[in-house]
Amino acid sequence: MAGALALLGLTACTQAETAIPAAGPAEAQTAEDLVAQGQYMVAMGGCNDCHTAMTPTGPDMSHALQGAALGFAPLVEMPWAPNAPPIAGLPEGWTGDDMITFLTGGGRPSGVPVLPPMPQYRASAADAAAMTAYIASLPKAE
Ligand code: HEC
Repeated sequence: MAGALALLGLTACTQAETAIPAAGPAEAQTAEDLVAQGQYMVAMGGCNDCHTAMTPTGPDMSHALQGAALGFAPLVEMPWAPNAPPIAGLPEGWTGDDMITFLTGGGRPSGVPVLPPMPQYRASAADAAAMTAYIASLPKAE
């Protein structure tokens, strides 16, 4: 009897252990979580500083990532793109995978190099997937 109880106890223990959820860093559980995680990363990456029209109080988030003319220019001569294109809802003709490739450092699908001041991000695949989910969820410019 005691043996059977001990065995039961052991089984319960094992079950309790396997019931503990794997706590990975920032593991997104749902599509909603992924978008929220991406929104956070896009804010951290400063994407809105260039890709969203600027107002005296900051980026106009009612048109988030819908593209903007930059409000600044370099002091020295250098390669320069004066406009940050619209990326909300993904750039025209890009798939989500194209965006993930781009954000992990793989360049544009067309192969055309990206000019400064666009930073060359080398995000992890997981972070790029989260940012892509958020960017894809945004309404495109009208
Ligand atoms: C300092 C300004 C700046 C910041 C910050 C910035 N970008 Fe850009 N981005 C640009 C400019 C300017 C271009 C256009 C470059 C060119 O024409 O070669 C660009 C191009 C791009 C493109 C290519 C779009 C296309 O149609 O080819 C993507 C995608 C992009 N940016 C995404 C992002 C994301 C996502 C972030 C934040 C994680 C970000 N950018 C942050 C300025 C910026």
